[in-house]
Amino acid sequence: MEKKTILVGVGGGIAAYKSANLCSLLVKRGYEVQVLMTEHATRFIQPLTLQALTKHPVIFDTFAEPNPSEIAHIAVADRADLYVIAPATANLIAKLAHGLADDMVTTTALAATCPTVVAPAMNVHMFEHPAVQENLDILRRRGTLVLDPGEGPLACGYTGRGRMPEPEDIADVIEAVLHQERDLEGLSILITAGPTVEDIDPVRYLTNRSSGKMGYALAEQAARRGARVTLISGPTHLKPVPGARMVYVRSTEQMLHAVSEFFPEADAFISAAAPADFRPARTLEHKWKKSQGPLKLDLVETPDILLAASRAKRPGQVVVGFAAETDMPVDHARRKLVDKGLDLIVVNDVTKPGAGFEVDTNQVTLIGKDGSTEALPVMEKHRVADHILTRVRQVLRVSDGERPL
Ligand code: PMT
Repeated sequence: MEKKTILVGVGGGIAAYKSANLCSLLVKRGYEVQVLMTEHATRFIQPLTLQALTKHPVIFDTFAEPNPSEIAHIAVADRADLYVIAPATANLIAKLAHGLADDMVTTTALAATCPTVVAPAMNVHMFEHPAVQENLDILRRRGTLVLDPGEGPLACGYTGRGRMPEPEDIADVIEAVLHQERDLEGLSILITAGPTVEDIDPVRYLTNRSSGKMGYALAEQAARRGARVTLISGPTHLKPVPGARMVYVRSTEQMLHAVSEFFPEADAFISAAAPADFRPARTLEHKWKKSQGPLKLDLVETPDILLAASRAKRPGQVVVGFAAETDMPVDHARRKLVDKGLDLIVVNDVTKPGAGFEVDTNQVTLIGKDGSTEALPVMEKHRVADHILTRVRQVLRVSDGERPL
């Protein structure tokens, strides 16, 4: 098989010495590695060291142009399967975020169309500075994979977040990105996320604790892996998912309509939202005043969106439900899987620490239509999303033998 080419962009920070280890690991794992350095980085580590490890001349002089038949930054960008910038200093992150291109690392970043991974490394206060955080957000919105820096003693004497992630971990992420990359290409995935809101009067409403994080993580990963994603979202504080078609709704009824509109064109529907199960029988036109006495609410059931989708399912479509449980999660989820005619159900015990509502992590068990169960440990919601998407891909492959996945 042809070797994949990884560009390693090295910024001018003390963690630059770790790039030697990263390059050596990537070479050992069978990648072609091309190093680019900023001039400042060359003050921290000799290009010769990285050249010896990668067996390729290190590129750091924007005007060197050793091969007259090509333009260096365009040629390396075109050859790259992935660009990792490690360490990414605050200055480098700012330049990347704002499209500045005054050295080989940033110029090549603008020319590269491959996936980009950024590994920040700096002093804890610098990392937490709003300017740096906003710049990282800009990069994330554009689809750059920003790694979380590690926590611990820093070269500056402080202890805190800011250490460059360990080269082993960066190499693992690179491998994951390259292997997963675009494996959902050609698929259309419909996802719901967040709570719904059921109005009582113009001021008050019923809702629940869903933040939307699980559904948005699914949408982000699906888009990253090449799927065409439609994300139907209840009210959340989350940013739109880059590359996804965003559809905003408020009530369960509205979510049902949006799902009904987009489900026919979807290969898979993943219902990660927490739509309200009940709504007030009627919404009051005016605010209910205390002087009017106690407010009594008559609640009626909302439509079951997942059930409606599953009933409308055509052969080959895959329907995935979630189950938010507080006791005997697997038993309850199995019943929901059967009752709602699902292909897969993802059950989370929302009483467990690190699982369910609001947090960035989740602990789920996947239960397939064939009865197979896969219990996952607590992990970041994006990683949970990847597991679910991989299962969806497998189910789709089984249900449509001709699909070229
Ligand atoms: O948003 P986060 O803060 O990240 O939290 C994530 C989560 C806990 C909301 C998510 O992991 C989750 O469990 N989502 C499903 C919540 C839920 O409504 O569970 P349920 O067991 O009540 O419903 C079962 C399934 O039916 C779910 O797929 C749900 O989307 C769907 N449903 C429920 C009610 C309804 N009226 N229509 C539906 O389609």
